[in-house]
Amino acid sequence: MAMIPDLESHFRGLVPSRRELLQRLEAEATREGIPIVGPVVGELLFILAFAMGARDILELGTATGYSAIYLTEAAAAAGGRVISLERDADMARRARENLVSAGLAANAEVQLGDAQALLADMTGPFDLAFLDIDKEGYLPALPALHRLLRPGGLLVVDNTGFQGAAAFNAALHQDRRWRAVNLLAFLPQHSPEQDGLALAVKVADC
Ligand SMILES: C[S@@+](CC[C@H](N)C(=O)[O-])C[C@H]1O[C@@H](n2cnc3c(N)ncnc32)[C@H](O)[C@@H]1O
Repeated sequence: MAMIPDLESHFRGLVPSRRELLQRLEAEATREGIPIVGPVVGELLFILAFAMGARDILELGTATGYSAIYLTEAAAAAGGRVISLERDADMARRARENLVSAGLAANAEVQLGDAQALLADMTGPFDLAFLDIDKEGYLPALPALHRLLRPGGLLVVDNTGFQGAAAFNAALHQDRRWRAVNLLAFLPQHSPEQDGLALAVKVADC
């Protein structure tokens, strides 16, 4: 069976539509070099969270709140909430403002601080966690993410194609308490567009 010619152009034509606020955040991200997930991964986050009826969602790496808006739309639909961790005070302020503009402030909390430190004091359980901080922080965060997710909870990991994520990828792959896949994907308007994305479900406590 033949493939669609120029598959990347074809898929670019299938990028989900989104509200004006998200388009403004995309333009800001391009202008300022802020690495946001873009509309395809954003919609994927919404779909995953909405499909599982996730009420309690944890995000590591808020930036301006772009992915948090997608996650919070899903959490709000289930009567739940998102906690998002960000160590840059200006980013945290902008994210809070953007969540207010999105009408989602009641269902989202941006906590300011280093994710590793904030995770240490956090209690779960969470239904879904999205990992999108500095890639060297992925492996140190993995034990806390396992502790905080409920059995059957979903871990979504962005940018697993980055060198800094290699040790994390290996650890997740070998850990029998998770079932995980790591996908090499073409992700239009993602930063970068060719990248890895991991999905893992917590199948065992120990
Ligand atoms: C890739 S951006 C997040 C993009 C956001 N998830 C989105 O798609 O809209 C990573 C963000 O994580 C923050 N960050 C990086 N390492 C962190 C850490 N260890 N703790 C807390 N925040 C961190 C950075 O300041 C940056 O704003």
